[in-house]
Amino acid sequence: MLPDEPCFPENLKRTGLYLHVPFCKSLCPFCPYNRIEYDGELFSQYERAVHEEIELYTPYLRDREFVSLYIGGGTPTVDLAGLLRILNHLHQNFSLSCDICIELHPSNMDSESLDLLKDAGVSMISIGVESTSDSLLRRIGRNHDGKTALDSLRRAGNAGFDSVNADLMFALPGQTLKDWENDLRAVIGEGVDQVSTYPLFSFPYSDLGQSQQIREVKRPASHLVISMLNLSNSLLSQAGYIRCAVWSWLKPVKKKFSSITRHHYIGFGPSAASMTGSHFYVNTFDVRSYASNLPGRRPIALSMPVDKRLEMAYWLYWRIYELKIYEEDFQNLFGTATSLDSAFSKVIRPLELTGMIEKTNGQYRVTDSGAYWIHRLQNEYSLNYINRLWGKCRQTPWPLEVLL
Ligand SMILES: C[S@@+](CC[C@H](N)C(=O)[O-])C[C@H]1O[C@@H](n2cnc3c(N)ncnc32)[C@H](O)[C@@H]1O
Ligand code: SF4
Repeated sequence: MLPDEPCFPENLKRTGLYLHVPFCKSLCPFCPYNRIEYDGELFSQYERAVHEEIELYTPYLRDREFVSLYIGGGTPTVDLAGLLRILNHLHQNFSLSCDICIELHPSNMDSESLDLLKDAGVSMISIGVESTSDSLLRRIGRNHDGKTALDSLRRAGNAGFDSVNADLMFALPGQTLKDWENDLRAVIGEGVDQVSTYPLFSFPYSDLGQSQQIREVKRPASHLVISMLNLSNSLLSQAGYIRCAVWSWLKPVKKKFSSITRHHYIGFGPSAASMTGSHFYVNTFDVRSYASNLPGRRPIALSMPVDKRLEMAYWLYWRIYELKIYEEDFQNLFGTATSLDSAFSKVIRPLELTGMIEKTNGQYRVTDSGAYWIHRLQNEYSLNYINRLWGKCRQTPWPLEVLL
């Protein structure tokens, strides 16, 4: 990826919007995301710049239909008044008759904030519960206890959103299978619509990675991940949830909360990425550099051209992650001249022969045994790509080059 500024987006399809809010009240050492400690003065600079970035894109996006707006962080509600002003601006400039999804932190979501978010059109929320065990939460450096996390799920359930997702982390240092079972049972007991579970990854550039001086992305042992994942699958299936992605389970009638699985998307804010079909690019990670570039120039740090083949591969990557691949969907998006089987036979055939995916009525489905191993393979690519790109972008606001 190079520091080239691509043209403004044209020919977007199934487009999502993304807003990144890079501030948190307290910083968790394991966290790989672009976030800094909240500071009112810096937030004002950020907010002014986001409004300006929205204005720069408005002529190119005004008449579009969007599939969703996703607000991620950081902790998006860390300055609720500021966030609501940005949301209002987005509503004024774009037609947002789509789902609006937001990531919430258990300590930053009182009932009044939830009502205000709902009034602003937010329909789906995801809460970073991580664990319900006070000692594990302390060990990973979270600033809340288990009761606060469970109370936040209860408040969210009563607030009447279309869907509430709970994020849990597993394979934490010292966590037993019994601890994990307790976490799963506790969130199921709160009646959440979706449960997403992530094994703890350590990235060399994160605070934890730096203190441990690790040089490569560190994953928990495979046997631990498999046994905990199997427990998640059996407890959540027994409770009536259906697996909707490698790490997520959803109640049958509910809509899925997901972040980066849109076809095309435009991102606002420091470190936000955009995929336009012709380019993939990321904004500078540094809040001050982001703010000082605007309104004169777009704050794009790095970009790369995307050809049709890469765009198709990107689409396939996320469909495999979501465990379902529709032949018809592929042809609608990329034209009937290309069939999925012929374009990706070298990827699909070996997966089919080893029983990791199976095909019925023009639809491929990732099998239960395939889900872990395919994702393990995807990790080889995605964790390294995140580590290289995000690691470099956190070191310097305007990198000269990143080799993926
Ligand atoms: C941006 S955070 C969620 C919102 C909010 N900032 C919070 O922490 O509650 C996104 C989610 O990514 C997951 N996550 C963060 N760091 C991780 C890591 N190192 N390994 C695995 N999952 C991680 C956590 O489950 C977290 O809830
Ligand atoms: S995990 Fe969430 S609260 Fe913790 S530092 Fe990352 S974004 Fe902030």
